[in-house]
Amino acid sequence: MAFSAAAFWLVTIMYVWWLAAGDRSVPIFIGAFLFPVAAAFTTLAAVVMRRAAKKVLTENVYEDAIRARAYAALELPGTYHLAFRDLRALIEQHVTGKRGLDFGCGTGRSTRYIEGLGLTAVGVDVSEEMVAEARAASPSGDYRVIPDGDLSSLSGSEFDLVLSTFTFDNIATAPKKVLLLKQLRDMLGSDGRMINLVSSPEIYVNEWASFSTKDFPENKNARTGDLVRIVMLDVDDGRPVEDVVWEHEDYLKLYDDAGLEVIATERPLATGDEGVAWVSETEIAPWTIYILARKS
Ligand SMILES: C[S@@+](CC[C@H](N)C(=O)[O-])C[C@H]1O[C@@H](n2cnc3c(N)ncnc32)[C@H](O)[C@@H]1O
Repeated sequence: MAFSAAAFWLVTIMYVWWLAAGDRSVPIFIGAFLFPVAAAFTTLAAVVMRRAAKKVLTENVYEDAIRARAYAALELPGTYHLAFRDLRALIEQHVTGKRGLDFGCGTGRSTRYIEGLGLTAVGVDVSEEMVAEARAASPSGDYRVIPDGDLSSLSGSEFDLVLSTFTFDNIATAPKKVLLLKQLRDMLGSDGRMINLVSSPEIYVNEWASFSTKDFPENKNARTGDLVRIVMLDVDDGRPVEDVVWEHEDYLKLYDDAGLEVIATERPLATGDEGVAWVSETEIAPWTIYILARKS
């Protein structure tokens, strides 16, 4: 609709231009009435559609025992494989030291991943349900429930790696994201790195081996800060996950505001040799991985 509005405005402007140049080949009725009316109508429709699409994220869908149980059964199938495939190499390349924090650890999948690379890891999350599953899977693990937006229980700690996988997809607003990024930045040791793995906006408007969005056409109109829905295909729980979409440029603004510098950005694609029936993964990157350091 926004495209049609732009097209009608363009034609209207061209008409006025032709008219000024003395060209009367388009009848006045069409040029001076129909084109501007169509332009105004489609602009209004685009604004109404945009408003209708604009819903905000108000709850964390992971504070739910059924979802937590389903998530706990998930390891790294399909599209998830691409999120974690390059992490080992990125951590080896960018992280020195062994002290890890997994922010938004969920059921412990990402925490166990970095422990498997030889780091010690504290996993923190706001969801008691998710943390209960993490503890059940790994009773000796260090998992902690934290208040939303408040990492003060960790103050004074220093980490060589702060990992966050998919957590920022569930943090609704820019002020809250910046507040948390600043707290995480303050816990980075002198050469510490944060790895923030998030969903790319494209994940919400395409089909994937592990996700479907076809029932949510309104996702196409969503912009940074808007609620989007997506269904996970690898779990029994078919209820859509509600996330907040965030565009790359807007992540860059957040990092800047939080005093973080982007060292590298990765967008993992499938090669096609993985033996998985990929849908969009060889063409479009479902995830974006940011390597961040404290700004000097
Ligand atoms: C999609 S899960 C990912 C879990 C895990 N990182 C993984 O990769 O399996 C996102 C997690 O972020 C947590 N989360 C959401 N908002 C949070 C916040 N403000 N602070 C800490 N954790 C949060 C959710 O409770 C949920 O467990």
